[in-house]
Amino acid sequence: MKFFVDTADIDAIAELNALGMVDGVTTNPSLIKKSGRDIMEVTKEICDLVDGPVSAEVTATDADTMIAEGRKLVEIADNIAVKVPLTWDGLKACKVLTDEGHMVNVTLCFSANQALLAAKAGATFISPFIGRLDDINLDGMDLIGDIRAIYDNYGYETQILAASIRTVNHVTQSALVGADVMTAPPGVIKAMVNHPLTDKGLDAFLADIKAAGIKIL
Ligand code: G3P
Repeated sequence: MKFFVDTADIDAIAELNALGMVDGVTTNPSLIKKSGRDIMEVTKEICDLVDGPVSAEVTATDADTMIAEGRKLVEIADNIAVKVPLTWDGLKACKVLTDEGHMVNVTLCFSANQALLAAKAGATFISPFIGRLDDINLDGMDLIGDIRAIYDNYGYETQILAASIRTVNHVTQSALVGADVMTAPPGVIKAMVNHPLTDKGLDAFLADIKAAGIKIL
């Protein structure tokens, strides 16, 4: 499973990237706002740091402007994936930009039919938002499973990018259901290492190391 980190925080990306945990990055207008940085500037810095796809989202809602913005975004670096919303205009922009050879991430996906449309428009990535479905008492994981089944039935190559991941359980479940990629905030990725039995076991070993005076160096 590929891990994308869902942030525009350079330090957080660099820390995880050094551990080989970053196969790509996703940003959105809310994350850019949170960074307090200029979108072009911060996106360039992320692209310089990370080899994999870096999603940068358009700001327009009409296809022509989305396409123009997408063409400007891809000038930042070769690894830009233009992020467009799942609307008819977004799908039009997706088709044009992917035909031009650019990566496109179609975002704000909340149904299997929307994902089917994105695949037909040539999307590189489809981003179903798990957490936001859970927020309204629906099961985000069912959506990932449905999209997986549909894409496999017809051999669509669009990659399923599980997004709006809020918990470590979302990561496990997405991996089990067969998402190609998951994007999560740095805190969720870091929390995946935690287990109370690991802490307990390590405490016991440390006590024995101390009691026995075990030394290696
Ligand atoms: O990848 C999409 C993500 O940034 C949205 O997450 O937690 O705002 O629903 P959230």
